[in-house]
Amino acid sequence: MHRLISAEYINEVKERNDITDVISGYVSLKRSGRISKGLCPFHSEKTPSFTVYGDTASYYCFGCQSAGDVITFISKMENLDYVESIKFLANRAGMPMPEEGKNDGLAHMRMRIKEQNREAGRFFYHSLYSPEGRQALEYFRSRGLSDETIRHFGLGWSPDGWDKLVSHLSGLGYRREEIFAADLGYSSRKGGMIDRFRNRVMFPIIDVQGNVVAFGGRRFVEGDSGGKYVNTSDTLIYKKTNHLFAMNIAKNNKSRELILCEGYMDVIALHQAGFSNAVAALGTAVTPQQARLLHKYADRVVLSQDGDEAGQKSIARSIPIMKAEGLDVRVLAITGAKDPDEFISQYGPERFKRLLERCSNDIEYSILRIGNKYDIATDDGRLHYLREVCDYLSGLGTLEREVYAGRIADRLHIEKSAVLSQAESSARRRAKMEKEKEFREMANNSAGIGSKVNPERSANLRGSAAEYALLNMLFSHQDFIKKASDQLPPGQFVTDFGRRVYSKFIEISDSGQEVTISLLSREFSESEISEIVRIINTGEQRGTDDFDRLIDVIRTEHSALKPRDAAKLSSDELLEQMNRLRKKKL
Ligand code: UTP
Ligand code: MN
Repeated sequence: MHRLISAEYINEVKERNDITDVISGYVSLKRSGRISKGLCPFHSEKTPSFTVYGDTASYYCFGCQSAGDVITFISKMENLDYVESIKFLANRAGMPMPEEGKNDGLAHMRMRIKEQNREAGRFFYHSLYSPEGRQALEYFRSRGLSDETIRHFGLGWSPDGWDKLVSHLSGLGYRREEIFAADLGYSSRKGGMIDRFRNRVMFPIIDVQGNVVAFGGRRFVEGDSGGKYVNTSDTLIYKKTNHLFAMNIAKNNKSRELILCEGYMDVIALHQAGFSNAVAALGTAVTPQQARLLHKYADRVVLSQDGDEAGQKSIARSIPIMKAEGLDVRVLAITGAKDPDEFISQYGPERFKRLLERCSNDIEYSILRIGNKYDIATDDGRLHYLREVCDYLSGLGTLEREVYAGRIADRLHIEKSAVLSQAESSARRRAKMEKEKEFREMANNSAGIGSKVNPERSANLRGSAAEYALLNMLFSHQDFIKKASDQLPPGQFVTDFGRRVYSKFIEISDSGQEVTISLLSREFSESEISEIVRIINTGEQRGTDDFDRLIDVIRTEHSALKPRDAAKLSSDELLEQMNRLRKKKL
């Protein structure tokens, strides 16, 4: 499909969308020269390993190895396909849309999924108020929901039976593939179609634009089969980790504060009680994407998870992610009830309001939680508490460290300076460990130890280093690709992986296109792409002075090829080999 958009157009899109600018819109980046670093938006981390290279217009995460160019970034971040990502960026740069044929299959499918979901939502709502839906309606009422609330959230009931909804959708002209693509039905073993949701009370998930993107269905009849909740799996329009339940309603709240709960019922109960700023991440810790969505509409988020161990764990994992997003995080301690829903129905909205006013900030919360683990009446307990709490303090800024060290000292009846110095030594230990880890990773990386992508590399360090240096040079100086292929046919490359990349460079370049990471992404796996991005960004940006020498080294190494068993080399030997190479400057 991408062939419909010309290479020139794509190049212009890339030129007009500086990768560092684009990514800054999603990740807070710290620039040094042409390289910028920040916290990876694709996995959760506390120290930045996400690196953006201005020179090669690419990014690479040392933590999760995700890598690519500005198009792959947008595609991942916005959950768009290749063509849509190009349009997204074109739009961002104020360019006219590309010429294309009618081949807009994916966009059409998305539209069909949205329409079906809206239809399904209506169907579930009407079913709830039909005579057969009485038991489901009774269930909602028994949980204290008013008709007004049911309408407000568009709740419903998926009828009992096998194919009630799918027949309805088929009758409206939706095809089997479309119904499957919406995950509203699936194939039976005999090849028929079965409703995804059967005899469940239904909660639609609606995005901030007002599209019904997914459903959750809760079992309400004792003994019915299946899990407590069945949820729509990821579809072309829905990615669980990008959405928050009730954000479509809560976004209208003007307070710039949101309450984040675990479940559908918590949110609904809170809204009914007047807290129209409640949303839910639906049973998981917050993701960076969700944190970003929260930040769009709020500056402060109150975590209001279940009181159980799972809830507390999810708080612990969510806090750093939300702080990295720049949100002010508060934590609500629910006591006397298992979740906000139960709390409201037992103690009423007034009491919940007081809980909200008394909620602690994330540091107080974390210290409290460590405190709950130990009995500080005993010496042993005090000692262990002190050690762990200082370890925690060591990760904070100096000012915060000062403040909380004082409180902890008071609590333990010891000198504040003792707490501080313990925290400092903890901080030093941590820094040292991180350095060592970084060094180990670097050494492993450059020796190719454990490189699944290029297993031949560690047995041919000199040759593969020259290959990588050449590929690095050719990526930045693509006018040299032709010259290289004349002098050095791919068959002379030393490692198989290097050879494949090199051949692809030549092929793309021969077809008159520019070699870009997004083009390569069609030919190489994700881990291979991440290796390629690493290759093109390793070391200084090269001039072309080394060209002849690199060609020469590769040729020599190729003819001297007698593969040694890399596994026989210990990592010390490898490091030594590397050092020798470095001294020789290759
Ligand atoms: P809970 O079990 O706490 O459910 O799971 P709840 O929302 O409080 O519902 P009630 O009060 O028991 O009716 C919290 C959230 O985790 C997700 C759902 O989003 C749920 O709202 N979950 C839970 C699932 O997706 N699947 C499950 O099997 C359980
Ligand atoms: Mn509950």
